[in-house]
Amino acid sequence: MGFYAKYLFPHLMDWTMGARKFQEQRGEALKPLHGEVLEIGFGTGLNLPHYPPTVAKVVALEPACLLPTTVARRMAAAPILVELVRASAERLPFEDHHFDCVVSTWTLCTIPDVAAALREVRRVLKPGGHYVFLEHGRSDSPRIAKWQDRLNPLQQRIGVGCNMNRAIDRLIAEAGLRLPHLDRFVMPGIPRLVGEMYRGTALPH
Ligand SMILES: C[S@@+](CC[C@H](N)C(=O)[O-])C[C@H]1O[C@@H](n2cnc3c(N)ncnc32)[C@H](O)[C@@H]1O
Repeated sequence: MGFYAKYLFPHLMDWTMGARKFQEQRGEALKPLHGEVLEIGFGTGLNLPHYPPTVAKVVALEPACLLPTTVARRMAAAPILVELVRASAERLPFEDHHFDCVVSTWTLCTIPDVAAALREVRRVLKPGGHYVFLEHGRSDSPRIAKWQDRLNPLQQRIGVGCNMNRAIDRLIAEAGLRLPHLDRFVMPGIPRLVGEMYRGTALPH
């Protein structure tokens, strides 16, 4: 891993994604969560202040060691129990049907084998459990999607593995989850190439 990816990008990511417009979206997206929750791609813990009181515990899964001092501070300040687990979403170290809910925010773009990760999400959800997601991805506009495909190699370098052209709803459906609720919108003040949002809940069939 190079200097940019290891030392600069975590600060850049935390600063960008901690902006108020992102915080507002986090608060809205996390409202349906309850019980024991698995967060995949925990990052620097920016979701912690937004978990509703209906959540008893968060298992925070993150393969990279990002801003450890900041993460420790946020975990200590969280009003709920948080357990940090170093693992990748493609192979979740949990039994089948363990969690009431799974959540991801701006993470499906970066997971290398996203199809495997979503199959794991389905596996670890209890029957009737919810997968709650807030993700950016492929535009429904063919013109924008074409530019997303063209510029994706550049985005992967700038965003350290981030893809801007993944069709999030299709990927979730292909993993055997149904989507009773999906909102599509563009993040205000963000270029459409990286601001095409998918927010919703999905359930195992
Ligand atoms: C753009 S960041 C978003 C972080 C956080 N979810 C947020 O909303 O601020 C993408 C995150 O996905 C994580 N990630 C990358 N590959 C992963 C994998 N295979 N499994 C789980 N998380 C992964 C990255 O380390 C990073 O923390």
